[in-house]
Amino acid sequence: MNILLSEDEIRVRVAQIAAEVNRDFAGRPLTVVGILTGSLVFLADLIRRIEVPLKIGLIQASSYCGETTTAGELRINDALLTDVRGRDLLLLDDILDTGHTLTRIVAHLNAKGAASLRTCVLLRKVGRQQVPFEPDYTGFSIPDKFVIGYGLDYDDDYRHLPYIGELTP
Ligand code: IMP
Ligand code: MG
Repeated sequence: MNILLSEDEIRVRVAQIAAEVNRDFAGRPLTVVGILTGSLVFLADLIRRIEVPLKIGLIQASSYCGETTTAGELRINDALLTDVRGRDLLLLDDILDTGHTLTRIVAHLNAKGAASLRTCVLLRKVGRQQVPFEPDYTGFSIPDKFVIGYGLDYDDDYRHLPYIGELTP
């Protein structure tokens, strides 16, 4: 296993992102919306450093064919989402790859009447994007490698690893 980002590196960066969020949202209650399942670990660490009042909402996006990366067709399940109407949202995902997932979910949340929406990704893969999308907060830019750990999976395994590693055969 080739470790790309250690536990310590992730912890420091998550704290920096939380500081930015605290500054940008000062005095404004927000709803943090996590995209299941990949954002779970990131969400748990980030929210414990956010100092403005917040609610948590969860939304699930899955590709129809179960590929390791997302194709065009996405199924969105928002049964676990709190009421986002009139709320300021901070949407979290583990990784921005092609950009399809976030683009679709942003449209979905806006259609549900969010007052405002910012986006935050822990990782952004360089050179993979197929649709233009600029997150408001980005943890790390990484090379085009398949990564696991800290919420990210391969076939639903490895999410519990405390670091981010490159999956090697
Ligand atoms: P996008 O729609 O192509 O931007 O894909 C985003 C989703 O693909 C993420 O939420 C992840 O679930 C998954 N994904 C993309 N790259 C990786 C990776 O390197 N490791 C694990 N999951 C990935
Ligand atoms: Mg995934």
